[in-house]
Parts: sequence; C-alpha cells; structure tokens
Amino acid sequence: MPDTILMPAGHVRLGSNAGQPMTRRDGIAKVTGAATYAADNRPDRLLYAVYASAGIARGRVAKLDVDTARAHPGVVEVYTPENRPALEQDPDEKFHMFAWRTEALQNDSVRYANQPVALVVAETLEAATEGARLLSPEYEEQPARIGFDNGEIYEPGSTGIGGAVTFSKGDIEAGRKAAVRTTETHIDTPLQYHNAMEPHAAVAEWDGDLLTLDCPNQALVMARDMFAKYFGIPGENITLRSPYLGGGFGSKAIPIGPYILAILAARELDRPVKIALRRDQMFGPVGHRGGTRQVVKLGTNADGQLTALEHNATSTTSSFDEFIEGAGNASHNLYASPAISTAHKGVRMDTGTPGPMRAPGEASGSAALECAMDEAAEAAGLDPLEFRLRNYSETDPASGKPFSSKALRECYAEGAKRFGWATRPLEPGTMRDENGHLVGWGVGTSLFPAPMFQALATATLRADGTATVATGGVDMGQGAWTALAQIAADGLGLPAERVEFLAGTSLQPDGGVAGGSGHTATAGGALFAAGSDAIRQLAELATNDPDSPLFGAGNAGVEARDGRLCAADDDSRSEAYEDILARAGLTALEGSGTGGRDPSIGEQWAMFSHGAVFAEVKVDPELYQIRVTRLVGAFAAGRIINPKLAQSQLTGGMIWGLSSALHEEGIHDLRSGRLVNGDFAGYHIPVNADAPSVEALLIDEEDPYVNTLGVKGVGELGITGTVGAIANAVWHATGTRVRSFPIHISALLK
Ligand code: MOS
Repeated sequence: MPDTILMPAGHVRLGSNAGQPMTRRDGIAKVTGAATYAADNRPDRLLYAVYASAGIARGRVAKLDVDTARAHPGVVEVYTPENRPALEQDPDEKFHMFAWRTEALQNDSVRYANQPVALVVAETLEAATEGARLLSPEYEEQPARIGFDNGEIYEPGSTGIGGAVTFSKGDIEAGRKAAVRTTETHIDTPLQYHNAMEPHAAVAEWDGDLLTLDCPNQALVMARDMFAKYFGIPGENITLRSPYLGGGFGSKAIPIGPYILAILAARELDRPVKIALRRDQMFGPVGHRGGTRQVVKLGTNADGQLTALEHNATSTTSSFDEFIEGAGNASHNLYASPAISTAHKGVRMDTGTPGPMRAPGEASGSAALECAMDEAAEAAGLDPLEFRLRNYSETDPASGKPFSSKALRECYAEGAKRFGWATRPLEPGTMRDENGHLVGWGVGTSLFPAPMFQALATATLRADGTATVATGGVDMGQGAWTALAQIAADGLGLPAERVEFLAGTSLQPDGGVAGGSGHTATAGGALFAAGSDAIRQLAELATNDPDSPLFGAGNAGVEARDGRLCAADDDSRSEAYEDILARAGLTALEGSGTGGRDPSIGEQWAMFSHGAVFAEVKVDPELYQIRVTRLVGAFAAGRIINPKLAQSQLTGGMIWGLSSALHEEGIHDLRSGRLVNGDFAGYHIPVNADAPSVEALLIDEEDPYVNTLGVKGVGELGITGTVGAIANAVWHATGTRVRSFPIHISALLK
C-alpha cells in the first residue's frame, strides 16, 4: 500500500478552527444589503448598456432601426456588426478549453433565440432599454432545429471539458449472456437553465490600457487572462473583482459576449459601462444543461448481482460549439459489474451552447442509473437498498483501483435508519397516509468525483501576532470565505479572529477555479501550505536562537498552537509568535503555498464522495399531484471543514435534485425555437413549500490519501442520487415508472 500523503509531521494541524460549525462570515453583509455585487458598482460618468436579444432561433438579422434607437434621448451609441470595433481575439475561436464560442456582434447571424444582436449604450438604464427596443429587428429566418428528433445526431469529440466519449471494461456480451434477468430503462432529461439569484453583470472601466472589471466570476485569474486575449493586453493589466457572487453553478466561469461588448464600449466611449442581464436574458447566452436521452441496460444474475451495465446517452448541444453532458460517466465508478460500457452521442440544436451546470454529467446520468437500478431490483424481487448493497463496489469498477476512502455503506445504514426504511413494503401502491394519499419511498446513491485543480496562496504573519492570508478564491454562496479562512487559521496555528482573509480579486495569488466541488480542497490546500510555510520559518528562528525557550528543540520538535510555538514533548517550553518575531527584529514573515494534486496520487487511488438519499413522496390518488414530503441524505466526503456550511451545500444540492425531479425544464417551442418559459413565471423551481423536510447527515470519513487536508467536496454531491430517489418513490407510490424528467402529472395518468 502506498504511504499516507497527509501533512508530514507538521508544526500545524487541522482541527482547531476547521471542523467548527462557524457561521458564514459574509452572512450579515449579504442579508443587510451591504455586500457589493458587481452591478452595485457605480463609478462616476457611468453609462448603461442593454443588448437587443434575437427573437428568432436561426437565421440572420436583416434590418435594425439604428437611426431611431440612436435618436432616442440619452442614447450615446448603438453597436451592431457594422460598427462594432475590432477585437484581438475572434470570439468564434476555441482558444482555451474554457473558451466557449460566443456572440460579440462578429456578424449578423442568429444561432439561437435570445442571442445578443446589438448593443445600446446610454446615460440611463431606461434610455438604453428603450433604445434596444426601438431597434425593432427584422430577420431572415430559417427553420429552427429543436428536439431530439429534429437535430443532427453526431459523434462528439468529448464529454464535458475534455472527457472521453466512450468507455468499456470487461465483456459486455458475456455479461449479457450470464444474466438471468435484463432490464432496459429509458430516461429523458430536459434542458435546464441555471439562473443564479444574481444575473450576470459587469462594470468595466478603462484607464489607458488598464481595465478594472467588476464581474462575478468563478475562476478569476483564468478569466482575467481570457478577457485580456480579447483586448490584446497582458492579463496583469486587468483587475477582475468578484468579492461576492449571488450563485454561479458553473455559469460564471466563462467570459460571455455581453461582457466583451460592455468592455469594448467602455474603451471606445472612454467612460465606465455597466451591463446587467435581465432575467429573460439568462436563457440563452450564459450556458445551460443540455438535455439527454438515455438508455441503461442492466443484466443481473440469480444472486441479484450485476453482470453487465450499459449506459448510452445522447446529449443536446448547440449548432456551433460542443458541450456534451457526460451522463454515461455516472455509471463508471459506482456499482460493481464485471462488464461496463458507456457511450455518448451529441445532437445539434439551435440553442446556445450548454456548459457546466452543477454536477455536469453526473446530475442527469445518476438520475437514469438510479431509476435503472430500481427497476432491476424490482425484477430481482429485492428491496432496492439491498440490491444496491449486493452491488457495492469495494474497488473502483472502472479502474480497479482502491478508493482513497469510501464510507458509502455507513451512508446507506445511517440514512436508512434516520428515514425508517426498514418497514418499507416491497410492493408499490400499498402505503396510504391519513388523507388517503398514496405514499412511496425511494432510494438513490450519490457519487461525485473529488477532483483538485491548482491554486496559490500567501500567508503573512505580523509582529503583533496577527496574520493576513490571500488567495484569489471565490465565494459564490457556498461559504468559501468562511471554510477557507478556517483552514488558513489552522495553517497558521491561530484563532480565526486573528487572521485577515483576502480573496475575490485577480490581484491575489491565483486561487484557481471555484467549481468541480474542488475549491475547498485546492485553495484550502494552498492556504494551509502557505500558513505552515510561515510557521516553519518561525520555528527555524526560534529553535536556532539561544534566547528562545525552544532553542535546540529542532524544527520538527515544535508545534503551533493558538499563536504560540510549543515544544512537542514539553508543554512548559513555549513562546508567542510576537516574541519570536520581535527578537529576530522582523515586522513580518511571509509564507507561500500551492494547492493541487500530485498526479501519482491519482494513479494510485480512485477518489469520490458518496452518499445515499432517501425520499418520501405523497401522490394525490385522483389528481396525481406529487409532493416530496421528506428527503434524508447521508453523505461521506472526507474531512468536513464546516459542518454547518457542508449541510447547507448538501441540502441545497438535494433541493436542486428535487427541482430536477419535479419542476425544472427549459421548454423550447418546436416551431420557432424560442423559449416558451424563459422567465421565473414559467421556469419552475421549488420554493419552501415544495421542500418541507430536507435533512443532510454527515458521515465520518477519514481520507489519508485524497489530499493534504483529507477534504473531498460537497457542492455537487447532493444533486446526484436525489432525482432517482424521488422517481423511485413515485413508482413505489403509484406503480408507474418514470421515463422523463421533470415528472409531469400527465405521466401518472392511466
Ligand atoms: Mo461547477 S458546474 O463545477 O460550478
């Protein structure tokens, strides 16, 4: 077995601040309105930009009434493809793996409804809005290609960002033959449009060739450098500020056309320009989750064990770029099967290009897999939890590698206990509540990878015993400003109150991407390393100084605790940080650190977070209205840095799962290609009354291998498992199998 890669006998350890249920440090600023979001910035001489959205899904803009728009009082400039100033980077070129082809008025073509077709800049928001309306576009329209049956089906180049399209292990044919029962489950999932509470916005201000950009973003330095490409300036010329995000969910990692246009206008007009998308404009240019059509075929033997697992998915993408929801990938790492095969196809439609959306791939893939597992359990005559236990994988099914940790069995046990699963009747349609409503119970397994990216951090310890740590990390509502500060404080052996935490701008060391559920592990790893680097230097000063009580203890012989260095073997020998620095004549001491994963770790271990979600639904026997009355999830994700925030992330994920199961879908009119429900009146999301009881249990899990902190991720985990659990509960209540999400009442009418 490989050695543990936990922090080598360190001066510092996690556990004083990390692990505490600290309340969100930015909470009061947010709920009182003091927090400054991008669109709250109002520099002097500010201009307002509003773009006109395409009213067709495919074709070209034939005419714009630019004169009328320009003549409207307050309108300063109107940009169309005819007068749009040049960019240094073609927005249709894929120059970076996170560069989506985007519309910045490079030509008059329309590729999807709601695409920007012109930009109006004015002295007021009202004038800009009216100016955009007065453009009254006329189009040459072509028939829209929308829906699985109307678009071109093709072999995509990758799934997600760079993922493989097909996977197979073992002999599927042999697996099929070995089966005594086979099931074939067809599941459709809809297009979903991520709609953060804070719509996308930017305030751009130039000073010569220096740009200040206030803009919510999940990957500050990466995005800064991409913006710099469009304008042909060095990345260092841009200060990207994103102290608060009102949600991101994957949609705010990528520079989009409207931002580029606002920055361009600010440069041309030599005044700051603000753009803020309206809610209806969130349905188009900012990405979405592609729809999927999935088939899962399972073979099981007489003992209820899988002999073959096939998962094929067709995912929608745009006509001009590619992002394929890697739905089949959800079947690689969960259930033991001697043969696994997955494959993806794409279907081109006249929509914007999909992008990462909270648990991209796993969210929709897990929904189909968990429905299929339930159907196979039924075919085998087994309780669905028992069936999952019979197919529990002790090593990663895809690679055969050991898991760095896997407390899924405990999740099943604790979740089932809390939920009361043991009394569940096997037969569907047998439970009723006191009002005569049909009651059903379902289960689903949660799984999400524990990836890491790259991050840098610094830690400055000052003569007064306080410290400042910095990383360009991002808090999009998940609580990074709190959890990362807890890790940083432990890295310095200080109480959190004595550590100033700086994040949220591109001026700080690159904090990496807040995404993939890997931000706490990655940026946290960098912060912890930076703190412990500072403490290592401090220990060197003390243990080499004859005037220190720690003299001669050796660098490895001291520990940092609560602002003091102590001899590891003798508590009576200790010294405050202030005293060590004062005697050395130093006003400050700087440490630096990196976060990321040694690739050799990935070669040795399979690393995933796990969970089990149990759902109760009640269904009106006449109207077939479905209510999710209880959700209980039990999750194991390595070390939990802040249980309060982790629970909030996990319950949030489960509620998103509920949303996917019952509410959310972007509906495009098949004839025009326009969205029928592109606003919050028509695009349904759950409210409190839809989620009366959602509980997330945190299961202890120690992971000595995953990274220096033992941290996996919790941001996306809760969605997976939940959608299937609810669909399976609906079957248990009604006897009707779900074939498409969200579950409509009409699907239950017989
Ligand atoms: Mo996420 S979809 O990695 O923000």
